[in-house]
Amino acid sequence: MPPIEEAQAINTQRIADLRTALAELPLDHPQLTLEIGCGHGHFLTAYAEQHPDEHCLAIDIIKERLEKAASKTDRAGLTNVSWLRASDAHFFAALPDTVRFNRRIFVLFPDPWPKRKHWKNRLIQPAFLATLAKFTTPGTELCFRTDYAPYFEVAREVVAAHADWELQDDRPWPLEHETVFQARADGHQSWIAVRAENAL
Ligand SMILES: C[S@@+](CC[C@H](N)C(=O)[O-])C[C@H]1O[C@@H](n2cnc3c(N)ncnc32)[C@H](O)[C@@H]1O
Repeated sequence: MPPIEEAQAINTQRIADLRTALAELPLDHPQLTLEIGCGHGHFLTAYAEQHPDEHCLAIDIIKERLEKAASKTDRAGLTNVSWLRASDAHFFAALPDTVRFNRRIFVLFPDPWPKRKHWKNRLIQPAFLATLAKFTTPGTELCFRTDYAPYFEVAREVVAAHADWELQDDRPWPLEHETVFQARADGHQSWIAVRAENAL
């Protein structure tokens, strides 16, 4: 099989597998929160403990980090959090159209991709924000935090210019709980945007 076709076949299979995994999760829960790139899961574990009325789903591409996260929540007896191995692109391709993350979406210390030629790999881009808008409801908070000041500035500009999201500088950060990458950083900056009423 030519390499491009082989890559497409792998993607198709991965998305099909994710659809099967997603069918096992309580995605019809009335209060849903998502974290993208959860790493070792420290933040969402603490958040789920403090928000027992929400179901919290986290995705990451690194299996070992998710396994550590899952053993933490198993030990704590938490049942309102799910960990899923998926890239954001595969996850949203597999997610049923009916799902709405109506509480919060967290993107905490995403890979900063400092070199200009790699900026295309950054999560916060107009198409990503449009995808998030599709799977959220008016009022859903998008909570972004990074230790890389240039990414903070650009991400803030991108979200400020996006019709589906409204930056709200007076919103309080929902929960202070240090992530692994936050502990390694000298400092950080955050913004919160709220899903607009009239997003497409
Ligand atoms: C710098 S780490 C931050 C982890 C965690 N949020 C923290 O603050 O400790 C970025 C995480 O995003 C994950 N990641 C990178 N690209 C991703 C993607 N396309 N979809 C989902 N997760 C991704 C990486 O595997 C990594 O665990």
